[in-house]
Amino acid sequence: MNADVRRAAEILRRGGLVAFPTETVYGLGADASRVTAVARLYQVKRRPLDHPVIIHFADAAGAFAWARDVSPAAKKLAAKFWPGPLTLILKKAPKVGGHVTGGQDTIGLRVPSHPVAQALLREFGGGIAAPSANRFGQVSPTTAGHVHQDLDKDVDLVLDGGPSEVGIESTIVDLAGDRPALLRPGKITVAQLEAVLDSPVLAKQPDSPRHSGDLERHYAPRTPARLVPTHEFDQEITKRKDKVAVLAFSRPDERVDYWLRMPREPQAYAQKLYAALRELDSAHCEMILIEAPPEAPEWAGVRDRLERATG
Ligand code: TXA
Ligand code: MG
Repeated sequence: MNADVRRAAEILRRGGLVAFPTETVYGLGADASRVTAVARLYQVKRRPLDHPVIIHFADAAGAFAWARDVSPAAKKLAAKFWPGPLTLILKKAPKVGGHVTGGQDTIGLRVPSHPVAQALLREFGGGIAAPSANRFGQVSPTTAGHVHQDLDKDVDLVLDGGPSEVGIESTIVDLAGDRPALLRPGKITVAQLEAVLDSPVLAKQPDSPRHSGDLERHYAPRTPARLVPTHEFDQEITKRKDKVAVLAFSRPDERVDYWLRMPREPQAYAQKLYAALRELDSAHCEMILIEAPPEAPEWAGVRDRLERATG
């Protein structure tokens, strides 16, 4: 792995693209300080240019050098959750170009904990711009195999670090406004953030910075998908005449062509979610029916991705 990591850092220095594992999902990395490298990243992702990208660093000192007005709240959250699945939105440092911020005055910063991501970030030394290593709007990759399927020859190297442990993208907190606001739910919950900050974290505000998680249909399979409440599930299956694939907590039903059973614990569910959606998508059914998860706060990250997957 060491030789691969050195080669990956070399490719980044030459302006190339490297996919690498993080604890959340696989990222498609480019040297964040090179405008042309980031331009190629957007092109390969087919991502609109006004959508900002998260910049990854080996540690908080590296990350905060790209921000200005780093507040005590930012320092507290970094001390508690970095390295880990948390992204902070802060005001950008003057030296940071608009090519990574979607032209906005804010920047997204993250320090991932995955050992391969850490090794790459240390070897490279600078900031690595990395959205999830899939085409824009599609289901994010949680294995190196997913990245190969999605991006094929459009990526110069894929580092394989095994399946991602968290399975859904990082929690994003906006600290650039007057009060902290949640932009994207993830493994780290609002309650955990509030406990560290000792103050409330607002739900996303209308004037918060743009982010692609805002789009209604995102993280989506190609097959049409629907969320169905538990008490309507049986009835829904009885009603359907077409070929359906199911993602549910309960046992398989023989009337259904393709059934994946999911864990009743939110972190175990999140870990399997994207691989499961990919599997159901390739089952060539006309519809994916997904049993709605509980309303409890620890399910917020999973619920958010399922709501987007079902448009
Ligand atoms: O877990 C993750 O965060 C993964 C792994 C690879 O680290 N990355 C990821 O990146 O999900 P991406 O680009 O697919 O999603 C990043 C989100 C997007 O919605 C992006 O627009 C938002 O973060 N974001 C980045 N910079 C921002 C900024 N300055 N203001 C508001 N949102 C920002
Ligand atoms: Mg993404």
